[in-house]
Amino acid sequence: MASVRKYSNANALARAAADLFLDLCSSATQERGRFSVALSGGSTPAALFRLLATENYASSIDWSGVHVFWGDERNVAPEHINSNYRMANDTLLRLVPIPGQNINRILGEIHAGEAAKAYEAALRDFFGGEVPQFDLILLGMGDDGHTASLFPGSVVVGKEVAGNQLDWVAPNYVEKLGTWRITLTTCVINAAANVLFLVSGSTKAETVRSVLEGPYQPATLPAQLIKPKQGRLIWLVDEQAAAYLSAR
Ligand code: 6PG
Repeated sequence: MASVRKYSNANALARAAADLFLDLCSSATQERGRFSVALSGGSTPAALFRLLATENYASSIDWSGVHVFWGDERNVAPEHINSNYRMANDTLLRLVPIPGQNINRILGEIHAGEAAKAYEAALRDFFGGEVPQFDLILLGMGDDGHTASLFPGSVVVGKEVAGNQLDWVAPNYVEKLGTWRITLTTCVINAAANVLFLVSGSTKAETVRSVLEGPYQPATLPAQLIKPKQGRLIWLVDEQAAAYLSAR
């Protein structure tokens, strides 16, 4: 069952996400000496990343134990304007003392299938042979109901909906964008201890309602595939994105 938390605007949402990040990071670091997080891409998380880079938050995090991965990546070079790595590096990673070896970039600059294999190998190195259990996976959602790079109508979502056994990481061609992506599959996302959706803005409101309160139709709304097996599923939404939700 998802927990849905509403905030007055995108800044309040980012602050709530930063507080949750700090809380999860501190407890994981105390318990296991490390915190594994998969960052989301797109534009929404930038406000969160910028906040985490401010003195208040950055000085409260033991960055030596933070291990950063990504939920997905575009098939572009790391310096490309569309790179999820570049966005996170510009707004956070280059501004905090995180060791370089703790940053596990998806190699967007190479063939998507090769990048998926290389990233899966990096996951195996870090998590061992078991399905990776991230402490936190951040996700966004497009107004078409996609999350990570699980887009409606794509081959990977078709396989997910059919219940096919998938690898941990998959290349996925996105017809409407005419581009390849590399994405974690639900095998990994739904194994996480905490999955946190950050969704803001009025353009997402109808999709948020459909995903959270409408019929289960994951082929059309892949965000509905996100159902952590044991972990917590939390949606942080601002009032605009929550506008059509029934009063809770
Ligand atoms: C990506 C993201 C993607 C994103 C949504 C929402 O690589 O684009 O992983 O799933 O979270 O598209 O993007 P916005 O935050 O820009 O609306």
